[in-house]
This record gives sequence, C-alpha cells and structure tokens, in this order.
Amino acid sequence: MSVYKREVCRILNLRMFDEMKNTARYVTRLDKTWCPQSHAEFAVLRTECFTAGNIGNKAFKLAAVLENARPGDRILSFGGAWSNHLHALAFLCYQRGIDCVGVIREGESTDNQLQRSLMRYGMQLHFVSRDEYRRRDNANYRIALMHRLNCTIQIPEGGSTVPAVAGCAGLGTVIRNSGYRPDIVVLPVGTGATMAGVVNGTDSAVQVVGVPVIRDDKVHANIETWVGDRRQRWSLTRPASPGYGKVNTHLLQFMVEFHRVTGIILDPIYTAKVFTYCFSPEFTAGLSQRARVLLVHTGGLLGNFGFLRQFRALSRPDAEVFLDALQRFCSCHVPLDGEGAADGTKLASRGPV
Ligand SMILES: Cc1ncc(COP(=O)(O)O)c(C=O)c1O
Repeated sequence: MSVYKREVCRILNLRMFDEMKNTARYVTRLDKTWCPQSHAEFAVLRTECFTAGNIGNKAFKLAAVLENARPGDRILSFGGAWSNHLHALAFLCYQRGIDCVGVIREGESTDNQLQRSLMRYGMQLHFVSRDEYRRRDNANYRIALMHRLNCTIQIPEGGSTVPAVAGCAGLGTVIRNSGYRPDIVVLPVGTGATMAGVVNGTDSAVQVVGVPVIRDDKVHANIETWVGDRRQRWSLTRPASPGYGKVNTHLLQFMVEFHRVTGIILDPIYTAKVFTYCFSPEFTAGLSQRARVLLVHTGGLLGNFGFLRQFRALSRPDAEVFLDALQRFCSCHVPLDGEGAADGTKLASRGPV
C-alpha cells in the first residue's frame, strides 16, 4: 500500500486498510425502474456510510487540516444554522480531542438538532449577526476573531481549501477500489472543492458532472483553478431546483419513496436534488446507451431535521418510516427520544442500510 493511501486511511479513521482495499460494499446498484426512459445503469457511492460519524465528503475535505492539528490547537470555522461542515468539524475534533469554535450566522434557526449536536461534541458556538457574518472572508476580521476566541487554526466556511481538494482526491481511490467502473460520476456542488478532488483523483476515462445546488458565479472558476489542465473531464449542469435550502412536495415524496425502495436516506439540500435531476430526461437524454453512472451520496443527513414538519405534512405512512430510519441512522449525533446526552459510547459508524 502506498504511503499516500495509508495516510488517507489513517486520517479518515476508517476500519483501516481493509476498507480502502475493497470498497465494493459502499456501492449500491439501483434498479432500472428509477429511470425507465434510459438504458443507463445507476449506482450510488455511499460516502454517508463510509466513515465513523456518517459525515460523507466532509471527512475527505477536513482530513488534511485535522491531520496537522495537535492537541492544544483550537480550530475556528464558519457556518449557517444547518452547516454540515461545522457538524463534521465538531465530530472529528471530538474524536481527536481538539478544541473548536463554530461561528454561526444568527437569524435563522437556533437551538436546532444540528446545533445541539455541535454542543454535544464540545464545539463552542459563537453567534454573530448577519452583517458581521458577511465579513467572514475578510482576513483582518478573521485574524481579530481568532485572537478574540483564542484560536490557532482557521478554516473557511464550507472547509474548501487546496488541502481539502487534495483530501477529496481520496474519493477517487474509494471509487477505484470499489471495483465499479463508472463512465460518469455525478455529485452535488457547493463550492466545487469536492468535485475538483474527484476530478483529480479519478481515472482519465471518467467524466465528472457536478450539479450546483447554489447559484454562485465563482464556482466554475474555482474548479478550473483546482483541477488545472483536466479541463475536458468535468462539467456543471444548470443549478438544481428548487433553490438553495428550499424543498417542495415532489422532492420530499421522492426521498420517501427512494428510501422505501432502496433503504437509502438522502438529504434535501444536496443529494436528493442531484438524484432527481439525474433521473430526469434532461440529464438522461445526453447519456450514451448503457452508460454507467455513479451518483455520489455526500452525506448531509442532519439537514433532514430542518424539514420534519414538511415530511409529516405529506401524510403518508412511509414518511413516518423515513423519519424513524433517519433518527436511527443519525442517533450517534441526535439522541433518540428519551435518551440522554452523548457520552461518546454512541459514536459508532453505521454500515450501509
Ligand atoms: C452533503 C453535502 N454535499 C455536497 C457538498 C458540497 O461540497 P463542495 O462545497 O465541496 O462542493 C457539501 C458541502 O460540503 C455537503 O455538505
């Protein structure tokens, strides 16, 4: 095993080398009925099941920065009220005994399930006004904040840095070692760091398609910078709908149905939007006959807790089954009804359901 691979295994806290050598169990092939209009074959890469804590792509994004952190360091980062990034950071810091502070934009929901989970992992929450939060990319502001909050390391919102892109190239190894040979890999795009890593880490025959979940003019240029001369290997689709952070009945119905048939729980902000788009004629019309399409499940399941009311409003029994499965899947982060605070003994990795 190469030094690089060993490093990635170590950093990601996998059940060590075995899982890196054979990641086949993390690919779930989908039935043709999801996309009857196409002869393409669809499969899902289950990164939500891959690492302890079910944190999906964030394990790869945060690998390098956490590898360099030492006890005594204190990490500062930024996020919205439902930030998957902060959640992954809190979880990984908890595992490693590293202090961390999450700067959270005020005004949306506070005291939600995700934030309670951050606190259970020992992250210090620092709420700032929307105006102040807008200054998060200002270097002077960040230095002052680091000073004020006694932090030694800072990570930008979303964790998208050059080392994060390098970490996400590890997803290419995971795909290669699964034995599944996709022609196309499709994944959600926020900042594009994960996608750039996948482009850099996969074989040259693989096309990588990103579905932006957010309208951001900088994303294309960012990816270009991160992937260098691998320009022919990737493309972005139109932004997913409905818009960022929004859901509609169609999307939630799809998620409930998808879980009922496959046992896979999607998230409403990233993965469900990508999956519905990929099964639509708009996407499949451009596919060659019998293309093998690998959809990357990037995690983010806690985001579902922000839409409990909307799921219940579907008034279908499978929605309750979905929510029950969600709660069990996330029970290492969000206590089941009647359970007390986390004591660390619940931090178990979930295998594919
Ligand atoms: C569940 C999920 N999917 C996809 C992404 C998008 O990642 P990126 O910002 O690297 O494009 C994120 C953010 O990290 C995420 O939380």
